[in-house]
Amino acid sequence: MNVEGNLSDSGTPAGKVSVVTVFNQKGGVGKTTTSVNLAVCLAALGQRAVLIDLDSQSNATTSVGVTPPVPTGAYHLITGRAGFGDCLKPTPYDNLRLVAGSDELAWADIELALQDNCHAAIQRAFERLPKDIDVVVIDCPPAPGIVSVNALVAADMVVMPVTPAPHALDGLHKAWWNVNRVRGRFNQDLHSIHILLTMTEDGELTERLTEDIIAEFGARVMPVLIPRDAVVTEAAARDVPVTSLAPHSPPARAYLRLSELLLNRLKRNAALAEGEAPAVNRDEAADRLALWSAAIGAQARTRPPAPEPGDPPPAGWTQDVPAGLPLTLPQGLGWKMAAALMLILLGAVLGLAAGLTLHNWSLVPIPV
Ligand SMILES: Nc1ncnc2c1ncn2[C@@H]1O[C@H](COP(=O)(O)OP(=O)(O)OP(=O)(O)O)[C@@H](O)[C@H]1O
Ligand SMILES: [Mg+2]
Repeated sequence: MNVEGNLSDSGTPAGKVSVVTVFNQKGGVGKTTTSVNLAVCLAALGQRAVLIDLDSQSNATTSVGVTPPVPTGAYHLITGRAGFGDCLKPTPYDNLRLVAGSDELAWADIELALQDNCHAAIQRAFERLPKDIDVVVIDCPPAPGIVSVNALVAADMVVMPVTPAPHALDGLHKAWWNVNRVRGRFNQDLHSIHILLTMTEDGELTERLTEDIIAEFGARVMPVLIPRDAVVTEAAARDVPVTSLAPHSPPARAYLRLSELLLNRLKRNAALAEGEAPAVNRDEAADRLALWSAAIGAQARTRPPAPEPGDPPPAGWTQDVPAGLPLTLPQGLGWKMAAALMLILLGAVLGLAAGLTLHNWSLVPIPV
């Protein structure tokens, strides 16, 4: 969708705000990783970017340094409880702002279902988009529900991450069908639909699956592969984008290249209307990512990742209650604890009485 805007500092044609929706109804294919790194790279490429986290898991939110809950976020935006400007939160990255996710998003589908034109809630919210935005990246939840449909209705471009693994083609067909259904009914201007192969590995099986996807979807498959790399998992564990933890790593470089390609396509599309396609400087963007990495990535590198369940406690771990922790029980738990204690006491008294009775009986001489 093209929304009114003014002339941006980055040179994006005036009047165009581009919306990139990252969607695949299949879970765990790299949607959030792609959304976050794409948003950061677009910001590094000079775009005034906004990342919208539509997933109640809120992983995109924490990955750009914002800790939920926030008073106004994506839930408030799409249910019409707050305007776009009120939902924007700053992030540690110049040029990048966030509309944060929250637990309440799990209910948004049901709430939207009760509204008229429930497919167009995001489109309605975008009618009051602030003028200083060039590009919006939307991270979708892993479901083809009303929230995801809204993100597709609002999109100028859809990026569908797919991991070449068994059943990938099956899942891709289903997601493709859903995107095209939304396009046919609600967003006929949506022509830019791209497949992004994520977590690719060397190996015969992956190569065969990749070939199958390319054979079927041809030029829709982006010519950049995001390799599977432990540094991405490490970045997720430390809640930072891989482009901040390790900007020179293969996946970070792949995300910057992807962002440059997508941005050029967005600008080409916008330029069809405006007659202008400004150049993008990848080297400058790489320098900017390295600078951000020095500030944000360094903090993340020194912060230990969260322990896995079952890991032994770290050195220095103590059972002492830290000073300042509230010692009162949560509301509603007090009477339950009191009842449990009463039952235990009652049991103890009855047990004692029974024991004494048996003891007295055993003193009575048994007649022979
Ligand atoms: N290139 C990669 N190399 C290694 N691990 C990766 C890579 N990309 C993503 N991952 C890991 O795969 C897992 C799933 O990624 P991600 O959360 O981005 O997927 P998702 O599609 O958003 O999942 P969901 O459907 O649950 O929202 C995460 O643990 C992430 O760190
Ligand atoms: Mg996700």
